[in-house]
Amino acid sequence: MRTQVVIIGSGPSGLLLGQLLANSGIDNVILERVDRDYVLGRVRAGVLEQGMVDLLDEAGVGARMHAEGLPHEGISLAFDNRLHRIDLTALTGKRVMVYGQTEVTHDLMDKREASGLTTIYEAKNVQPHDFDTTSPYVTYEKDGVTHRIDCDFIAGCDGFHGVSRKSAPQDVIKTYERAYPFGWLGILAEVPPADHELIYANHPRGFALCSMRSEHRSRYYVQCPLNDKIEDWSDHRFWDELRRRLPKEAAEKVITGPSFEKSIAPLRSFVAEPMQFGRLSLVGDAAHIVPPTGAKGLNLAASDVRYLYSGLREYYLDKSSAGMEAYSAKALARVWKAVRFSWWMTTMLHRFPDTDAFGQRIQEAELDYLVHSQVAAASLAENYVGLPY
Ligand code: FAD
Ligand code: DHB
Repeated sequence: MRTQVVIIGSGPSGLLLGQLLANSGIDNVILERVDRDYVLGRVRAGVLEQGMVDLLDEAGVGARMHAEGLPHEGISLAFDNRLHRIDLTALTGKRVMVYGQTEVTHDLMDKREASGLTTIYEAKNVQPHDFDTTSPYVTYEKDGVTHRIDCDFIAGCDGFHGVSRKSAPQDVIKTYERAYPFGWLGILAEVPPADHELIYANHPRGFALCSMRSEHRSRYYVQCPLNDKIEDWSDHRFWDELRRRLPKEAAEKVITGPSFEKSIAPLRSFVAEPMQFGRLSLVGDAAHIVPPTGAKGLNLAASDVRYLYSGLREYYLDKSSAGMEAYSAKALARVWKAVRFSWWMTTMLHRFPDTDAFGQRIQEAELDYLVHSQVAAASLAENYVGLPY
């Protein structure tokens, strides 16, 4: 088989890139390790920046998001037993969209199918080859048979544990990493959210987040020790802990119910440089991970897609390699700013096991400064709604 771009991974970055390319007449094939339902079963991000909303519109998959998504104009920071609202729209003129990653993926998969584009699910042992030449190819196994796809470019959209980054020459790639000494326990429940906007809470018992997927489905998180097990957390214990970490006015509004999803995620910052090795480009989680506190992971995948898509369009439509040559540097400039913001939000809002009394006071001063200085609040808001692409 031959195509112009082989995309490894059918998460949001692979699917979005594939759709944008196809809309521009650039042929592509997606290879995915697991099946469609497995991809759709992963509950992850929930907040989309305006830039990502625009990109989904450009890909022609925005209709359901606009009909069912919830535009938000503010968030609340909770500390000292009070809610402090940050008016994102007054400070930046922009809004964010609450619409689950699962729904984005669903819409992209439906569009891909309707457009008659090829996705090969359950492709095992995917391997990129010869990407240091102008004729790369990818091999994979399906039903015990090895296949080969020749192409011009390979897009590594295969997440943190994928094969693409591992295939990069070890003497060229450099990685930067910070692990955090706690995780997030998250649940989904079919109950109305505690508030119409998100609440990020700093509390002596640890961080908590009130989010949502719709007006009748809530997503809540609490900071937990890294070695806690799901079995340690009954629904009752979760609701009790969540309420204890919220100001009274918010805790009273938490409506409880049985959870239908519960998982623990570790928190990590990670960046691989460069994001391009000849004709193999890394996109999204394949190149970088941020702790979820700033809601940036999925949005960063979208900005990478924007840069790579522009580079590929320039290559095929304008016959210029300039955009492709600039991909890594352009993407990394934005990535590091989101890594900085996510690290800062995480540091400001969580309880660290080794924080002493001095560190505690600094955290309190920072939160107090943030909600009383319009300049400081504007900086948070500018990053939260998303820096320009
Ligand atoms: P992925 O979504 O990881 O997609 C990669 C795809 O590649 C997968 O379908 C995978 O099966 C496939 N693949 C992997 N290896 C191979 C292979 N060898 N061959 C072929 N296919 C392969 N972000 C937020 O902003 N907010 C959140 O609340 C949030 N919560 C998260 C919770 C968890 C548990 C995790 C893991 C991430 C979370 N994120 C969150 C981050 C966000 O979900 C990711 O940034 C986003 O999924 C990145 O999209 P992606 O397409 O780059 O990678
Ligand atoms: C969600 C996750 C986040 O990390 C965040 O900052 C906001 C919302 C969510 O899953 O809804």
